[in-house]
Order: sequence, then C-alpha cells, then structure tokens
Amino acid sequence: MKNIVLVGFMGSGKTTIATALANRLKMRYVSTDDLIEKKEKRTINEIFTKSGEEYFRDIESKVVREVSDMENVVIDAGGGVVLREKNMENLKSHGVVICLTADDETIMARTQKYKHRPLLNVEDPKRKIRDLLAKRAPFYAKADHTIDTGKLTINQVVERVIEIVGGGRDQ
Ligand code: S3P
Repeated sequence: MKNIVLVGFMGSGKTTIATALANRLKMRYVSTDDLIEKKEKRTINEIFTKSGEEYFRDIESKVVREVSDMENVVIDAGGGVVLREKNMENLKSHGVVICLTADDETIMARTQKYKHRPLLNVEDPKRKIRDLLAKRAPFYAKADHTIDTGKLTINQVVERVIEIVGGGRDQ
C-alpha cells in the first residue's frame, strides 16, 4: 500500500488521526516534527527562536525527503510542509496526500492550550491563524484529497481516509 500522508493546518487533527490510522492499519506512524527535533536535539520553538524559520524549513525538507522514501508509513506532516513544491512532489511520489481541514474557530480552540507552536505564540493568535489560513489555502489545495474534520469524530475521519486509500476516490 502507498504511504498515507496527512497535511493540513496546525490543529487540523493530523497527529490524532495519523496515530489512529497507524494503529488501525498496522502501519508505522512517523512525524516530521518529531524527526526534526530528534535530528536537531532541540525543540521546534528553540529552532525557530535561535536559527529562524528558513533554517527550520530546510531541515524540514530534508526530513520530508527521508520519510517519503519509507514504506508502509503514515506520515504526520508539519503544517508548513505544503509551502515547498519539492516537499509535495516527494510526498506524492510514494504516498497519497490527504489534507485535513477545520475552520478558524475550531483551530483556535484546538491550539490555544499549547505553547509548542512558535508561529502561534503571538499576541493575537486568532488573527495569525486567519492570515496564515488565507495565505496557505492555495498550498493545501494541492493535496490529492481533502477531509473537513470539523464535524466528524476521529473514527469517521479514519473511515474516510480508509475509503480514499482503498477506493481511490475523492471526497
Ligand atoms: C508549523 C506547524 C507545526 C510545526 C511548526 C510549524 C507550520 O506542525 O511544524 O511549528 O508552519 O504550520 P503541526 O502542524 O504538527 O502543529
């Protein structure tokens, strides 16, 4: 089976769904963010603060290349992976790329209790979320399929992904 790649904005549910999918399909779960932190031996917050976003994106692209070549994995891709065309090319080469979406209110509710996302550690996270969602919409649209997670349970999203991967039809 092709790899399953979950992309989407921060708080769209990638980690929860990727973990559930990996368990259900007996595939390995891999997270680009986890691999970046392991490689760098520091947190994403530290990487952004000390080395800047471009540096982070370069490491992210390396990690994307590595995970794209793995087999039988569910890839939980960081929210900004879609920004580089080459990342999408690599991910699509061995995988089906599925974008999870949710509206800005849902994203705000899901992300506000955490502090590990440097891009949202700002004075007005709601505004930042709206701006980034608008800016990134054309990039997320490049996924092979899209699932709106806003009104679905975890199980329902997992079922949709399985339908897509098994049946090869769009949502
Ligand atoms: C980012 C999303 C984060 C992480 C980093 C940057 C982004 O991953 O890669 O903070 O640019 O959207 P999650 O989407 O898993 O939170």
